[in-house]
Amino acid sequence: MKKTIITSALPYANGEIHLGHVASTYLPADITTRFLKLNGVEAYYICASDDYGTPILIQAEREKKTPEEYVKFWNKRDYEDFTAFGIEFDFFYRTSSPENISFVQGIFRKLMENGHIYEKEIIQFYCEIDKKFLPDRYVIGRCPYCKAEEQYSDLCEKCGRVPQEIEEPRCSICKNPPTKQKTKHYFFKLTNFVGELNEWLEVDSHLQKDVKKYVQNWIKDGLVDWDITRDISWGVPMPLEGTKGKVFYGWFDNHLAYISSAIKFLNDKGLDGKEFWNAADIYHFIGKDIVYHHYLFLPAMRIGIKKEYKLPDYIPTRGHLMLQSKKISKSRNWYIGLKDFLGLYPADYLRFYLTLITPYSQDDLNFDWDEFAARINSELIGNIGNFVNRALGFTQKTLSGVVPSTNTFDPADKDAQDKITNLANELTPLMEENSLDKALKKILEFSANFNQYFQKKEPWKGGDGTENCIFISVNAVRTLAITLFPFLPQSSQRIWSQLNMSGNVSAQNWSSISEIVIKAGHKIGEASPLFKKVETADIQTYKSRLGK
Ligand code: MF3
Ligand code: ZN
Repeated sequence: MKKTIITSALPYANGEIHLGHVASTYLPADITTRFLKLNGVEAYYICASDDYGTPILIQAEREKKTPEEYVKFWNKRDYEDFTAFGIEFDFFYRTSSPENISFVQGIFRKLMENGHIYEKEIIQFYCEIDKKFLPDRYVIGRCPYCKAEEQYSDLCEKCGRVPQEIEEPRCSICKNPPTKQKTKHYFFKLTNFVGELNEWLEVDSHLQKDVKKYVQNWIKDGLVDWDITRDISWGVPMPLEGTKGKVFYGWFDNHLAYISSAIKFLNDKGLDGKEFWNAADIYHFIGKDIVYHHYLFLPAMRIGIKKEYKLPDYIPTRGHLMLQSKKISKSRNWYIGLKDFLGLYPADYLRFYLTLITPYSQDDLNFDWDEFAARINSELIGNIGNFVNRALGFTQKTLSGVVPSTNTFDPADKDAQDKITNLANELTPLMEENSLDKALKKILEFSANFNQYFQKKEPWKGGDGTENCIFISVNAVRTLAITLFPFLPQSSQRIWSQLNMSGNVSAQNWSSISEIVIKAGHKIGEASPLFKKVETADIQTYKSRLGK
């Protein structure tokens, strides 16, 4: 059986999940996993909370909690919110797990043995007022590359690069300019890997072309070695003599939790985790803000341990979500928490809309309340909901729920049947190339065709064509239920139950979407409307809450 491991960027255990997180990463990864499982692939979706890093320490300090308490809270809350959204992880762990800590320390030792680590005395920003070293987010200033102001010292959000030294630095706690002090740090020799990274980018055919170009240009501009030490109290401890008080930089350990969490999960299942990893297709779903880390640091570290754990085959990368055409910002309250949204509308409404607006590219996307209402009402309800309810409602009311036998097909019937038979050929490649927005549009086109067919055949007039129309339509509803499962798992199961099909829809075979499975004489279940309209008055209310 084909094996696959899917991961999505590990959420920082630092505040609630909002729509910006789910659109580009968790939702596409979940849809992909569900699709692969329907195809009989042994696929596991692995995630974890990203527990370390200076921002978390800063925030825990502010809330007067220990960092352990703080990340424990968010690990649980994030998992609950994802689950409510229908994101079904096979395993959700944490970067601060004992397994990850020892895994990270082991990888560090191997990198050291292989000559990819060196020590260097560095000058580090130090705040005399706050009495601490100031790594990463503790310092803000100007990006030395693109000159954007107000950037953190570890990542420029404007150009996506990792600055070597930020200009005009200020302490982020007290806003005063820091002084400089000497400290000994460890560096990962990213520059050792230029050749092999280029080769990997060149050869690997699954990586997105536009992202690859970006990364190849960064390599051309020149890579710099990577400081992997932090003089703070919260992180994976460095495992060497004389490194007391030093921990690893969060970006050294976090992506290793993809592997350590997967291995724990697989070993606990009684499988050989490492063997599985190396035999599987590996997917890392990410947003475009962390391309640098996933296309350079992560592969270099795996190459640095002689590919003991294989490199990713796919790194599906998508753009940022805007909200009402403006950048999402928590501090300006310009965001929508996932939990809040799910208090207003079912998860499937959001999954539907976000999928439609999220292309498989780095282009940014935009959540717009009015567009949300319009597309739910006209496409989810007016198209899919309408067809399913017409076909099943008619069968129930007029035929006591029994699927009729057919007579000779006329051209319209033949055409409708062909639509079912051909769907797999048209839809499967889109799913396989991860064009999930196009795939959902294809399903909508299929459903729209069946609305037209139903309209044209006018079964309510009781003419000759009635039986054929109902027979084919009920089978089309079955096809819809399966194809919708990756996208709208709850609604898909409801359609499946209304059809009175046995087993769960999740246990079906994707390839059967193009088969006529339901036979004459089958009795369907209770038919009822799947969705409720989105009221435009409500939308105005939700819009007016933003930014307040
Ligand atoms: N927590 C990081 C972020 O949200 C992503 C980490 S992905 C990792 O940007 F795998 F590399 F951990
Ligand atoms: Zn300060």
